[in-house]
Amino acid sequence: MASETATPPPMETLIALCKRRGFVFPSSDIYGGYNGFFDYGPLGAEVKKNIKEAWWRDMVHRRDDVVGLDSSIIMHPRIWEASGHVGGFSDPMQMCRHCKKLWRADQVWEILEDTDWIQSLREVFVGIPESQNIAASSRALLDWSKKVGKKKAPNLALVRNPEVTLSWLAEKQSDKVNVIEFIERLATEQFAATGLQTPCPACGGDMTAPRDFNLMFETKVGATASDDDVAYLRPETAQGIFVNYKNIVDTGRVKVPFGIAQIGKAFRNEITPRNFVFRSREFEQMEMEFFIEPGEENRETWYRYWLDWCTDWLVSIGIPREMISEDIHPQEKLSHYSKGTTDLMFQFPHGVQELWGIACRGCFDLSQHQEFSGKSMEYFDQERKERGEEPFKYVPHVVEPALGVDRTFLAVLTAAYAEDEIPNDKGKPETRNFLKFHPRIAPFKAAVFPLVKNKPELVERARALYERLQSRWNVFWDASGAIGRRYRRQDEIGTPFGITVDFDTIEKDGSVTLRDRDTTEQVRMSEDEVVTFLEEKLG
Ligand code: GAP
Repeated sequence: MASETATPPPMETLIALCKRRGFVFPSSDIYGGYNGFFDYGPLGAEVKKNIKEAWWRDMVHRRDDVVGLDSSIIMHPRIWEASGHVGGFSDPMQMCRHCKKLWRADQVWEILEDTDWIQSLREVFVGIPESQNIAASSRALLDWSKKVGKKKAPNLALVRNPEVTLSWLAEKQSDKVNVIEFIERLATEQFAATGLQTPCPACGGDMTAPRDFNLMFETKVGATASDDDVAYLRPETAQGIFVNYKNIVDTGRVKVPFGIAQIGKAFRNEITPRNFVFRSREFEQMEMEFFIEPGEENRETWYRYWLDWCTDWLVSIGIPREMISEDIHPQEKLSHYSKGTTDLMFQFPHGVQELWGIACRGCFDLSQHQEFSGKSMEYFDQERKERGEEPFKYVPHVVEPALGVDRTFLAVLTAAYAEDEIPNDKGKPETRNFLKFHPRIAPFKAAVFPLVKNKPELVERARALYERLQSRWNVFWDASGAIGRRYRRQDEIGTPFGITVDFDTIEKDGSVTLRDRDTTEQVRMSEDEVVTFLEEKLG
């Protein structure tokens, strides 16, 4: 039986699997990689395409009230002034005065927690009773600063000047020893005394005060590009939708409430891209802006509707409901445009983090574009007029579900990773790791195997079945190696079904075996039944 992992696998396991089997490579790998950018290999490209197709099918094709759009990545720079991105799309940044590395100020402690030196500093305190004063550990700390500290955090005050720092600490701290407090004191109180603040995760050095850093990538458009021709790579796909809202209302047959959906690349010059494809500098979004009549009750109804729809959709592509939770943003955390935001959170390997943001954007964006472009964004509501309900003309409000393709990729991969024990070719139990991808998401839907490769009749029969299935779905052909090993190779990349053509197929009744990846159970069925079975499972 597969272990149902409430605990996600370590990120390193997923990164290694992705590289080994060709899901994701670091971008520019032969040049040493390029921080914050990734390339999806043959299998990753399939998974990503399947995620996007499933979303488009369910969000656009299977609904009467949502239409699609594909807008340009570089748009008129005024758009980003109107949307508030030029003025306010920034994160606080700090720079280490020693090694000059840049850090996102609100993530420094989180990053510090992952560093070797903080972890080894923690170990210094293992076994020391909480009631003891810091002085009791000063010998161990002195040792630490001369050995580990010198190597891993050479610019930390404790390392540069251990005796002074420790005597200062002993004097200051009269209460209990608590490692977190100690580290915080090291970094704040003690540094504060000398005008310094949080330590640099890379070298322990002190850092500059936080300052805002705009996340938009700039470029220049045109052959004579000067500073007047600055344009931006879009940091969200949403604005392409808002600026096309009028075109779509004027040319389509849409009526409020309705939505416009778009899938496409977005770019953010993240200060500290990290956690694999979770936060990168180039990524893809699947966003939908749903235009509704103004009014609080109406907004709350649609807000709840989309939260539930999005949760159900994640479950429909194989993410267990128990790995999803809701995080309602408090007022002070809301983006400049938002009247209410809830994030659907997922249990990623690095913690419970945002996967999908569902925001009530009010009429902020359309009103801003109305003001900046001088074009009316008012909607004339014929049905309201017929009902005699004022106002007939209004700027619609918006509920926005905004999802990242790459984060969804990481979520389905995390949820799919499983380990169990099954007998090997010799009947001995062996640990197997496999990916329980939902068939909609799996890169290959099935694999076809001739049991042996030196029997032409058998191979031809298997090849014919493979070609029959290949005309409908992405299927894999594998003729070499022991059959058990071939199954394992497919298990590891998440192929849900393995179909084997054996001697019974050619000598008896024409039936083949179909093996289920998760249970490893095999059933015999005719080739026609295989097609019907896959049709049912894959749609
Ligand atoms: N239009 C609203 C908007 O862009 P957001 O929360 O900034 O909202 C929406 O982004 C989604 O895009 C996030 O929930 C996440 O899935 C994805 N996303 C945002 N920044 C990302 C990054 N640097 N790398 C990967 N995905 C990202």
